[in-house]
Amino acid sequence: MLKLTDVYKSKDAVPVLYALLKEREGRVNISHRQMPTLSEHRRFVKSKPYKSWDLILSGKEMVGAVYLSQQNEIGLFLFKKYRGQGLGKKALGLLMGKHKKVTRFLANVSPKNQPSIDFFKNQGFSHIQNTYELRKRG
Ligand SMILES: CC(C)(COP(=O)(O)OP(=O)(O)OC[C@H]1O[C@@H](n2cnc3c(N)ncnc32)[C@H](O)[C@@H]1OP(=O)(O)O)[C@@H](O)C(=O)NCCC(=O)NCCS
Repeated sequence: MLKLTDVYKSKDAVPVLYALLKEREGRVNISHRQMPTLSEHRRFVKSKPYKSWDLILSGKEMVGAVYLSQQNEIGLFLFKKYRGQGLGKKALGLLMGKHKKVTRFLANVSPKNQPSIDFFKNQGFSHIQNTYELRKRG
């Protein structure tokens, strides 16, 4: 059985979240250019950046994490070995069930991340926007 457990109330969440972050390939990762240190990541988690942030548990196994930002953007990440088994779909259902009053969910996905684009389309999400970025050197 799949369940969500609150990152903000868990003492052991940071190392799991950090391991998950390490697994995120550059092409998938649109928010971090450089990997933060463990203590930087701990500070980030402690700052409670999201409306909700949960570890995803399948039995006793930590399979991934899911958050909902203040702007109702979903972040859903599974360890590679647990992908493609229907767990992402179930975790998305649990997240939405936890936020029943939210009427519009968003997901920001890199255009290079075709598997996630396919996943969200498959779950009924529509493509509404392309966002362009310019980074200044220095
Ligand atoms: C995106 C992600 C959460 C999907 O979770 P998952 O457990 O692999 O997906 P599921 O097995 O639950 O798939 C659910 C449905 O999507 C479809 N799907 C999943 N991956 C797919 C793919 N690569 N291509 C096409 N369809 C796909 C499945 O066929 C399934 O369809 P069904 O409902 O008809 O049975 C997971 O792959 C992941 O963690 N990716 C890396 C992190 C990431 O990039 N997240 C996106 C940013 S929010």
